[in-house]
Amino acid sequence: MTCHPIVRLGLASILALLCTPAAAQKFEQLAHTPQMGWNSWNSFGCNVDEKMIRQMADAMVASGMKAAGYEYLNIDDCWHGTRDADGNIQADPKTFPSGMKALVDYVHARGLKLGIYSDAGNTTCAGRPGSRGHEYQDALTYARWGIDYVKYDWCDTKGIDPASAYTTMRDAIRATGRPMLFSICEWGDNKPWEWAADLGHSWRTTGDIFPCWRCEHSHGSWSSLGVLPILDKQAGLRKYAGPGRWNDMDMMEVGNGMSEEEDRSHFSLWAMLASPLIAGNDLRSMSDATRRILTHPGMIAINQDRLGIQAMKWLDEGDVEVYIKPLDRGGYAVLFLNRDDVPRDYTLDWAFNGMKDDISGRAIDFNKQRFAWRDVWNGGSGSTGTVYTATLPAHGVVVLRLSPQ
Ligand code: GLA
Repeated sequence: MTCHPIVRLGLASILALLCTPAAAQKFEQLAHTPQMGWNSWNSFGCNVDEKMIRQMADAMVASGMKAAGYEYLNIDDCWHGTRDADGNIQADPKTFPSGMKALVDYVHARGLKLGIYSDAGNTTCAGRPGSRGHEYQDALTYARWGIDYVKYDWCDTKGIDPASAYTTMRDAIRATGRPMLFSICEWGDNKPWEWAADLGHSWRTTGDIFPCWRCEHSHGSWSSLGVLPILDKQAGLRKYAGPGRWNDMDMMEVGNGMSEEEDRSHFSLWAMLASPLIAGNDLRSMSDATRRILTHPGMIAINQDRLGIQAMKWLDEGDVEVYIKPLDRGGYAVLFLNRDDVPRDYTLDWAFNGMKDDISGRAIDFNKQRFAWRDVWNGGSGSTGTVYTATLPAHGVVVLRLSPQ
């Protein structure tokens, strides 16, 4: 903001305050632990409407997802209609005839929060109106509707500087005064982990997910990625994550076509790596197996651990990898991943494998410190005083929770 010099002369001290806007900040405390919710894109693409979103809100409560910690119901691309004569964005009157405010009220009445989607360019990835040049106006519209979460995409942004574009929307959200979680969706193209911690609460680290184990699914000019390719792209990123700033591995594909074993591994890896847990399946018709995975209290507790330390790859033995996540009260979660297509027997002699983590400053010498472990999915227990052996299913994981003895 600039002021006329004469005005500045007379009222310098007062106007210094008015004319120099304080540096904007994102809203803190919205994602002290990774956000949990549901998003429409993976299952519904552009087929979103208010009836389905209302049903999903009801299913989120009835299925036990809300009780397990899922909070946000996020409408992805394609809710948009056109802008009115003053440039205000409106919901598509055919698919959202009651309007966004009514939908927000419905969702809030069930103790849930509503998220919305926009894009830093002129158009969204599906060709709906983006927020470019309308950032403050759109943020204000969302705030007036009572929106709680903004996912902000990166299509149609040729020539725009990403950090500036996301700063503008961060500032626009801040200026509304309504705390809205800001989810940056820039696919990791410009290393958002290096510049987005003060802008948003999470940033996508990769392109879009696809429900497969190790495939890449080509869409011509880009491909979507299975569980293992997304996992491998997290290398080197854990130091950027922490309370309020998460590496987002994308909305989950649990219940969307992979095997139960693969779904369990996918969910466990996202939980261990402190990714936001955003379900992407149809909650109205999910199987018991899918529901049990998504609501697993032991895995959710690991993801939502107060310290917010992302797991590190501790041991790499080719097809078997071992991840470790430091937890509150001196505990740890240890995940054994079998990437292979056949089961693998695995033996870990704790005494020969110390752990040192420069990022959290934590270390373990199992000769000096003993832990009790509990198998989070299968329920067994034991101690690090004896060698651990397990048969890891093909494409499967075993997760142990260690507590100091
Ligand atoms: C991009 C995003 C997806 C989804 C679609 C919507 O591909 O990465 O998560 O939001 O756009 O068009």
